[in-house]
Amino acid sequence: MNIKCSKIGYGCWQIANERWGYISEKTAMRSINTAIDYGINIFDTADAYGAGYSEKILGRSIGSRRNEIYLSTKVGRVVQSDGTRTINCSKGYIFKAIDSSLKRLSTDFIDFYQLHAYDPNTKLEDTASALLTLKKNGKIRYIGCSNFSIDKFLELSKMIHIDFIQIEFNALEIEDYKRCINVCEQNGTLIMAHSALCRGLLGGKINKDTSFSDKDIRSTDERFYGEKYNSYLRKVKLLNKIAKKLDISLKRLSINFVNSHSQVLTALIGMRNPSQVKENCIDKKHFQLNEKVFKQIYEIAENNFMEIKQ
Ligand SMILES: NC(=O)c1ccc[n+]([C@@H]2O[C@H](COP(=O)([O-])OP(=O)(O)OC[C@H]3O[C@@H](n4cnc5c(N)ncnc54)[C@H](OP(=O)(O)O)[C@@H]3O)[C@@H](O)[C@H]2O)c1
Repeated sequence: MNIKCSKIGYGCWQIANERWGYISEKTAMRSINTAIDYGINIFDTADAYGAGYSEKILGRSIGSRRNEIYLSTKVGRVVQSDGTRTINCSKGYIFKAIDSSLKRLSTDFIDFYQLHAYDPNTKLEDTASALLTLKKNGKIRYIGCSNFSIDKFLELSKMIHIDFIQIEFNALEIEDYKRCINVCEQNGTLIMAHSALCRGLLGGKINKDTSFSDKDIRSTDERFYGEKYNSYLRKVKLLNKIAKKLDISLKRLSINFVNSHSQVLTALIGMRNPSQVKENCIDKKHFQLNEKVFKQIYEIAENNFMEIKQ
């Protein structure tokens, strides 16, 4: 892949005004432009985020700076007018959806175009052929998928080259990476690590007294309440100790951990305002973590700590 992505990618689900509370258009535009100023050059969204709203605001924010950045978006999760969601990766649907995404993003090509989910009602051949056509006619540059099982990924890989996948990967969630790294290496597929701060848990500000509004996805995420939450907070404390020893913030440890792995293209982080962008960028830069630190982080991630009461 002839592309040099920044180590941090900007996740634009946060600006969709659907599952992360409200962010004004002005704040979203300022955040995105601050990110470009601070060297972030890849922006990830989806046509389903806010039913197109996130793509629209991203396109508006970038304006004339399109040639400074790479755009990543997704297709296949369909938001119906009553708010319910379905999956459609048929050729006919993809051909319509790409043109809507291009229009909302104010661009004539998308750098990273991925299937948002596997569609059990469409033949993979049909989907693969649609993506190949889009690539041939220059509407997309690189093809990817997310929320696919390994088997379905391999099936699709036999039909078209999968340039990249998106998986959840952070210092608390390592299972998906462990599951897919071998096939990614064998197939020459790169990884965009989403939720690199574990939905904010690795941002350094969330503690046992933090509460989330019912408009925030974390109010229904089992990692943010009950026993599991206690276990995660304990892990965060241990990770904090490692970060302190290295004289870096927990955020920087988390970003460096993700980027120290092979095949990782970028660590995607959702940011809600320019301050978060600056905090994530101005910290010390990327450096490879050594084996000892790696081992410590893996031990923490792999231990469930459920028996420990806080
Ligand atoms: N392919 C997929 O299915 C898929 C799934 C999930 C996500 N994604 C992509 O990945 C992106 C990121 O993942 P994510 O949104 O799940 O989680 P994330 O990036 O791990 O966490 C986002 C949260 O981190 C917090 N944060 C960011 N910077 C911070 C800072 N400097 N200090 C403290 N907290 C900070 C913010 O929390 P507060 O809101 O509390 O301020 C923000 O909402 C998404 O935007 C989306 O583009 C893709």
